[in-house]
Amino acid sequence: MVAGTVSEKKRYFAGVMTGTSLDGIDVAIVEIGSQVTLGHVRPALELAHFFSRPMDRSLVDALMSLQSPSENELHRAALIANSFSDSIARTVLEALTSHGISRRAIDAIGVHGQTVRHQPQLGYSIQLNSPARIAEITGITVVSDFRSRDIAAGGQGAPLVPAFHQAIFQSESEHRAVINIGGIANISWLGQPTLGYDTGPGNLLLDYWIRRHQGHDYDNNGLWASTGNLHTPLLHAMLSDPFFSVEPPRSTGRDLFSENWLNTFLSQARFANLQAHDVQATLLHLTARSIALEIQRLERSVDGGKRQCDRLLVCGGGARNGHLLEAIGHELAAILERAIPVESTKVLGWDPQVIEAAAFAWLASRTIDGLAGNTPSVTGAIGERILGTITPA
Ligand SMILES: Nc1ncnc2c1ncn2[C@@H]1O[C@H](COP(=O)(O)OP(=O)(O)O)[C@@H](O)[C@H]1O
Ligand SMILES: [Mg+2]
Repeated sequence: MVAGTVSEKKRYFAGVMTGTSLDGIDVAIVEIGSQVTLGHVRPALELAHFFSRPMDRSLVDALMSLQSPSENELHRAALIANSFSDSIARTVLEALTSHGISRRAIDAIGVHGQTVRHQPQLGYSIQLNSPARIAEITGITVVSDFRSRDIAAGGQGAPLVPAFHQAIFQSESEHRAVINIGGIANISWLGQPTLGYDTGPGNLLLDYWIRRHQGHDYDNNGLWASTGNLHTPLLHAMLSDPFFSVEPPRSTGRDLFSENWLNTFLSQARFANLQAHDVQATLLHLTARSIALEIQRLERSVDGGKRQCDRLLVCGGGARNGHLLEAIGHELAAILERAIPVESTKVLGWDPQVIEAAAFAWLASRTIDGLAGNTPSVTGAIGERILGTITPA
């Protein structure tokens, strides 16, 4: 323990993450020690337990139905938020039981909520959630709505995980970048200041395409994509979307990268004869190349081009897709003309799936302790802000 700490006592927080993939409810229970040492963020934290439950298909369909404007959506959103929050509360209680820890031991639960609209340029981002129900069912204080305050301060409200990546993965001996490949992919460029932003689609288009053609939830290890060939004109057409040339800070979601987005390209006559597995291979390369192009952008633009990336660490579900990791490595080698190791965070002892949920446990602890949770160099906010809304137990 370093001198000057605010608190020496270890406390437990839970973090609940449900990302754009809608694959499951992830719960991380994190033990948090000192929060601040001599004015610097220094989270002494350890993962105590991780628990994940796949989302029911009916809940996934209900949440998907709210991703775009529809009839009587306010009423439906309220009801869906209630049943979604009940599932979250039950999953948290299951996580506690399976770890053998009492609910009284948990200081607060950080609940991200399900993003159904993300429009920071219009001043809002909506994470569907009913923190009151979660507090009522679990008897635990809930911290929610993490993004709004950063947006009110002129930021994107996203991504919020780079500070956590910085805290757990920064190294003195090499310069690391972290890419979280969930439905959307976001990069963290570790250093002072930490930078980070969304690079574009991660898994969500791959998931949509394999579900439509093969009926699977996801392309296990990228095997189906590996049977197809990259279609370069389609890749270039997709990369010509203005999103990829917007200077950071930037963030995105299903509002932009929807099935309609993909189908707008595929409906063009020149792509009419493409085979489904070639589309999948091209989508895999879209994720890989858009990530590699951002590493190139960061290397060129930060510190006058003096800081190269020594290692790319991958977290999120995409870290389990070996063919995707390989494709990122190839794209990086082609674009940067040198090889960079591309590895799952598990090589450093962090299961790639737990990191986002653990980050929201940590963010909840920041809120409860009255400490800032956003990183202005990442989100573009005018300053640091204490994030979230507290619903007492
Ligand atoms: N074994 C695997 N092979 C390929 N992709 C996988 C594998 N396991 C998980 N994924 C991908 O990861 C996604 C879930 O990643 P996650 O980080 O939870 O995203 P989100 O934060 O959007 O929920 C799945 O939808 C799937 O596309
Ligand atoms: Mg997920």
